[in-house]
Amino acid sequence: MCGIVACRTTDSAPDYLCESLEALEYRGYDSVGIAVQTVGGGALRLRSTRRVADLVEQMAAVATRELTGVGIGHTRWATHGGVSERNAHPHTDCTGSVHVVHNGIIENCDELRATLTSAGHLFSSDVDSEVIAHLVEDELAFGADLADALSHTIDRCEGSGAIVVMDSHSGRIVGASRHAPLVVAASPNGSFLASDISAFGPRVASFQVLRDGDVVELAAPLRWTGIRPDQPDVVTHEWAGTELGLHGYPDHMAKEIDEQPELAARILDRVGASATNGSLWRSLDLPDFDRVAIVGCGTSLNAGGIVAAAFRRFGRMPAETVIASEAAEAVLSPRTLVIAMSQSGETADILRALDGDNLALCQVLAITNNPHSSLARRANAIVECSAGHEIGVAATKTFVAQVLTGVAVAISALHELGRVDRANTESILDDLRRMPDLLAQSLTIAKDVVPPLAAQLIDAPGVIFLGRGAGVVYAAEGALKLKELTYRWAEHYPAGELKHGPLALVEEGTPVVVVDSGGSRIAGNIAEVAARGARLITIGGAGSTIPALGHSLIAPVDNGFQPCGPLESVIPMQVLARELALDLGRDVDKPRNLAKSVTVE
Ligand code: AGP
Repeated sequence: MCGIVACRTTDSAPDYLCESLEALEYRGYDSVGIAVQTVGGGALRLRSTRRVADLVEQMAAVATRELTGVGIGHTRWATHGGVSERNAHPHTDCTGSVHVVHNGIIENCDELRATLTSAGHLFSSDVDSEVIAHLVEDELAFGADLADALSHTIDRCEGSGAIVVMDSHSGRIVGASRHAPLVVAASPNGSFLASDISAFGPRVASFQVLRDGDVVELAAPLRWTGIRPDQPDVVTHEWAGTELGLHGYPDHMAKEIDEQPELAARILDRVGASATNGSLWRSLDLPDFDRVAIVGCGTSLNAGGIVAAAFRRFGRMPAETVIASEAAEAVLSPRTLVIAMSQSGETADILRALDGDNLALCQVLAITNNPHSSLARRANAIVECSAGHEIGVAATKTFVAQVLTGVAVAISALHELGRVDRANTESILDDLRRMPDLLAQSLTIAKDVVPPLAAQLIDAPGVIFLGRGAGVVYAAEGALKLKELTYRWAEHYPAGELKHGPLALVEEGTPVVVVDSGGSRIAGNIAEVAARGARLITIGGAGSTIPALGHSLIAPVDNGFQPCGPLESVIPMQVLARELALDLGRDVDKPRNLAKSVTVE
């Protein structure tokens, strides 16, 4: 989603801005822009509805000696106003001196725009963010300092967002945020603001995360104002540069799919022992609970479904998933443990859900890949899922990390609550420890078998995904991957629901992917679709189209299931979605309309 960068550097501002915007490309965007202060106190503004590379090309025609090291930049993911150059950030005030980049939504934008227009301000875009430039302009006209002007402006705007303002006249840059990520860092080469630490690259050794009410100015040293008396903690920045490269892979998704078996082994090494002896849960210092509600969106919600099932199955603990954007409808008691599941930790729907009256009395445990996120700061405790950087917009390895980390938390908590004894936790962990091998085996089979299957689906308008029991959530995840990458419709159903309606969709050649974790009932459902001429792709044991399931099959495993169900089934479905998307000419790392970090509701 929208990305913000800003710099006050001794180096070239355009180079820094373009490089750091490139580092934020993975978040997803549809237009991009920069504004750089000129030596004469004006600004050069370049915007494009194409990629960051287009700005780099535009810069080649500019005399860079006319430019200073002061500038701001933005990648936009459209909300208010269509995708066009005039709607791309930075936006300016009427004087052309105030430049603004903004990530978020201004809920009272119409009202503010009407007031500003009747006061004589001229707008040159359709976007809500432009009101900020004009509000700051008014504040400056009344004699306010730039930092105060931004503070007062934020007070007048309803909603959440991160804002950076550059006054090209003075060359000052200030930033502030409300319920949206914004980080700042200082180095011997200058100071920088960004919505995501990836933008900093190797340039800084530490950073600070702005809190609601902070206002910071890029200066040496950084100048903190705003309503808070203290500064945010300084966090060490570990540059993940080598991790971000493609290392010979054609795209990040391919690399991230491949990383899953090794990642699973690393996670189990890290949390395995502390899950079985309960110390993982004890270290969180959370009170006892008698219900669980897992709040999330998209893939994280699917991962939450598997973790909820582990609470129910192993501890007979009532556990449900709650779609974050619908959380206002959830009825929760104060003894409900809320687990907020989020890769980015910045998902606006989740942050808003946690603000709801119905969740306010509950303790919140965040399971996130970003320990510096807004969610991590809001939660009462956090467990990192430690998947490393995931660049592909479609979640792959973070899903596996969330499932394994979440199931480890479940086992640990249930043990501490006396709902699962030590022998049982040990045996669950033994089952979990098979998972890295099962994932590796599934990966090998998927890479071999799936590409020709994908090629056969090139003309299929859509695909049905089926599962039963623990397989249903995996069918949901398979369908989500397919639609986000291929732009074809894909729906999932519990296989038993077929005959209650969806079976009407099945005709000669309809592709149906079945997560076949075994048992006679799903065999019956497979027969039902086969009898109607479906193009069946089963993911199961020997004899399946994709024989990728090992110990997750119902028959060979005690108690019927692996602790996290047929987790290895997700790999062939990731590979299927990626292969078909490539066959259709899609950009698998940056699917259209989607963003990695969904910071608007
Ligand atoms: C999955 O491939 C998508 N990227 C999306 O569904 C994602 O899982 C969802 O937006 C939640 O994001 P989060 O984990 O960062 O909260």
